[in-house]
This record gives sequence, C-alpha cells and structure tokens, in this order.
Amino acid sequence: MVRSTLDSRWREPEQPEPASPGNFKQPGGGRDRFHVAIIMDGNGRWAYKRGRPRAVGHVAGTTAVRRTVESAPELGITTLTLYAFSSDNWRRPRGEVGHLMRLFQKHLDSECARLTDSGVRLSVIGRRDRIPGSLKRRIAHVEERTSEGTSLHLRVAIDYSARDALLAAAGRLAEGVPPTRQAFERTLAQAIHAPRGTRDVDLLIRTGGEQRLSDFLLWESAYAELFFTDVLWPDFSEADLASAVQAFAARDRRYGGLSRGPGRATESSLCERTAAP
Ligand code: FPP
Repeated sequence: MVRSTLDSRWREPEQPEPASPGNFKQPGGGRDRFHVAIIMDGNGRWAYKRGRPRAVGHVAGTTAVRRTVESAPELGITTLTLYAFSSDNWRRPRGEVGHLMRLFQKHLDSECARLTDSGVRLSVIGRRDRIPGSLKRRIAHVEERTSEGTSLHLRVAIDYSARDALLAAAGRLAEGVPPTRQAFERTLAQAIHAPRGTRDVDLLIRTGGEQRLSDFLLWESAYAELFFTDVLWPDFSEADLASAVQAFAARDRRYGGLSRGPGRATESSLCERTAAP
C-alpha cells in the first residue's frame, strides 16, 4: 500500500517540452519557453577590487540587473529568476542588510515604469513576513502594475530559501494535500508566493567563480543545465549572458532518457549490441 502510494507520487516520467534559446518566436505566433535563473554573486569582491565599500558593489549590481533584464527577451528567455537575497543573507551585518533592502525598494521605484512599458511582468518570490513593510507594499504595487506583461516574466528572489520552501510544501502534504507531484508543486509555489505554472529552470547561471547552488530553486532545477562563470556580477554583460545561452544550446538534455542527437542509441543499435557475442 505504502509502496504503491510512493510509486504514484514519484513515478511520473515526463519529458518537459524542450527549451530552444534563440528561437523565441515560433511559427504561428506561438512562444517557445526558456527559463534562466541566475545566482548573482561577486558584488562585494567587485567593490573590494576598487577599494570601495561593499555597498558600492551592490549599487553596481543593480545596473547589471537592468542590463540583463533588457537583453533577456532578445535571447529567447521567457522567464528570468534572479537570486537577490537568500534567507541566509540575514546573517550579514545589519548595515549591509538595511542597504540591500533600501536598494531593492529604490530599484522597484525607479524601474516600475520601465518594466511596464517593456511588457515585463515582475514577481517576487520568497517569504514576505520578514522584509520591511514599505518594501512589501512596493512589491505588491509593482506586481499589480506589471501583471499583464508578456515579454518576460522576471522573478526576483528575496528572503528565499529552497529548503524552507520545500519544508513548507511538505508540511501541507502532512495536512492532507494529495501526495502528487502536481499538488506538491502547487503548494511549493504558494510557499514562496510564486505564480503557478512557471516552467522548471532550464539554465542556471552563477557568477563570481563559486560553483554551488546555495539553497536556490533546488526542486525546480532538478534538470537544469549549470553554467558557472568567474565574471563578477556587476561586470556581467549581455555578451556574457549570450555565451551562457550558447553553451546551453550545445548541451544534450536527456532527462534520464536517450539522446535525440546524432549517434544516439536507437532501439535497433542496442539490439545489435546486445546480440553481439
Ligand atoms: C552577492 O554578492 C549579491 C547579493 C547578496 C545581493 C544581490 C543584489 C544585487 C545584485 C543588487 C540589486 C538587485 C536587485 C534585484 C535590484 P556578494 O555580496 O556575496 O559578493 P561577494 O561574494 O563578492 O562578497
């Protein structure tokens, strides 16, 4: 009994619709979908290299955010998730945390019209109960103003922890939510205030030279292609984003199945191989 429940929960082999960067407009006016997530790292080191306080690096980081958001649709990106503040970042000095919160608010204020005009829909994912009330109100306002945007879905993660989100969703299962992947993903989205139906991450980029996931989108990145670059976030350019997308396009995504490309193992070639002495 337990076994069959687990089987029905986890055995749902599905091959997601493949993402095709650079092929944004599909014949017939449809849209391909491509989700890129970025761990924006290196603001502090960028400032340190210039003998400036870390805050200067974060301000420079906002310019890279604007640049990336502007270039994303041209590269076929339809959803862009940026890791701006992890739940572990509360451990940073009070002054730096306060500066970041004010910066997020200022950026939302200054970018709202630009986002609306360019058809970008903004969502903030993460917890909402620990950030300053003024920021919370600003987020709600910009989310509302941009809700009709269709050129890009920009998701900014603030006070976000993938483990906390998974725990919250697991707690809902314990309360009786059906143990299916679909129901779990719905509760996971609710836990981080994310709109439902967002595609899993196709490409996860981390700048700043470290090669780790840092509690970011652990569930949603199950089959993400990973791309690490030494470029510090404030220096991250449109060309860097294009290089990452190009590297992604060259990857062979099999989702545990077989390659679709040349040299793939076909049924007949496998039979021949097994039949050989
Ligand atoms: C990591 O670099 C960066 C952050 C914790 C903050 C990210 C914030 C921004 C890019 C600014 C604005 C963002 C938005 C969405 C408006 P770090 O400080 O850990 O750098 P380090 O590893 O060099 O110390």
